[in-house]
Amino acid sequence: MPAITRKVSGWYSPPPYGGHNWMPMSFSPKTGLVYVPARDIGWVWGVNGPTWFYEGYDLARLTPEDVRKQSRGILLAWNPVAGKPAWSVTQDTLSNGGTLATGGGLVVQGTEDGYIRFHDARDGKLLHQILVGTGIVAPPMSYAVDGEQYIAVAAGWNGVKTGPDPQPSPAPYSNASRLLVLKLGGGPIRVAERRPLSEFYADDTPQSSARVTAGKPLYFAHCAICHGLVGEDSVFPDLRRMSPGTYEAFDSIVRGGLLRAGGMASFADVLNAEAAENIRAFIVDWAQRSRHGIADLPAARERPAQEVQPRQSTL
Ligand code: HEC
Repeated sequence: MPAITRKVSGWYSPPPYGGHNWMPMSFSPKTGLVYVPARDIGWVWGVNGPTWFYEGYDLARLTPEDVRKQSRGILLAWNPVAGKPAWSVTQDTLSNGGTLATGGGLVVQGTEDGYIRFHDARDGKLLHQILVGTGIVAPPMSYAVDGEQYIAVAAGWNGVKTGPDPQPSPAPYSNASRLLVLKLGGGPIRVAERRPLSEFYADDTPQSSARVTAGKPLYFAHCAICHGLVGEDSVFPDLRRMSPGTYEAFDSIVRGGLLRAGGMASFADVLNAEAAENIRAFIVDWAQRSRHGIADLPAARERPAQEVQPRQSTL
């Protein structure tokens, strides 16, 4: 393939995360439509950088407005014969669940913000929704026992999140997984417990600006892909909210692999102790600014000139 060159650094959509992902789509022979859990979100690309997405981005150009715009999910009813949408429903949340098209003319979908929604398969009209709290990415399925129809969905969320929760979506609920099974006339479904959000790391000691400046691009190259670009809440810990114990154990976690069993691998192959210290200073500085409401994006525009090679093995 020829190398792709980009002449202008800027915001492009759809992003490398794609217009939709693995969450299954469904097809209704009755309507002839395909129901796609789609999404629309942009991505800031640099000029002539590598094309693999987490190497080619240019976060120096990322603004909070960029992050917020176009970050939405879409329930898309696609007409494969006409080659165009029949209808679409815009959703506040980006990474919603797979779809089920039923013989009774419904499209059923779980959402990132913890709803099971029932749409009319012909026009997308929202007929009913049930708040369960737990985010959903799995597709619902349907079966019958002794002539009684059930709809079952595995609730529990993991997905790509690149922006702060859109208002007024509910605050995060516990992500404890559950199998939810519905039938007509069934009882109420328990809404998941709310997960308390821990406080920002509370230490106002000014951080060395040299360390903060050096730590920032390292954070974006190695950590942001999981721990967040803008301080968004996700299934990974928001490092601005680390405890004093985590602050102390930072190097043991980041380079020593202390939390390896929980999915936090050691970065000792790409970061030395100095680099880990710089990242920690950047995070503490960010936590201080978040706590005092100074900036919700860590001064992405001040990115230093040197380029950082991202780790190759993630994803
Ligand atoms: C591939 C995803 C991924 C990447 C990349 C990643 N982490 Fe993590 N990190 C995790 C997971 C998962 C946990 C939770 C581990 C646990 O609770 O056992 C975690 C936990 C942590 C914790 C403990 C947080 C707390 O409050 O308990 C720290 C500190 C941390 N990571 C720092 C970093 C730093 C610094 C980087 C970049 C050098 C980084 N991580 C990159 C996935 C990642």
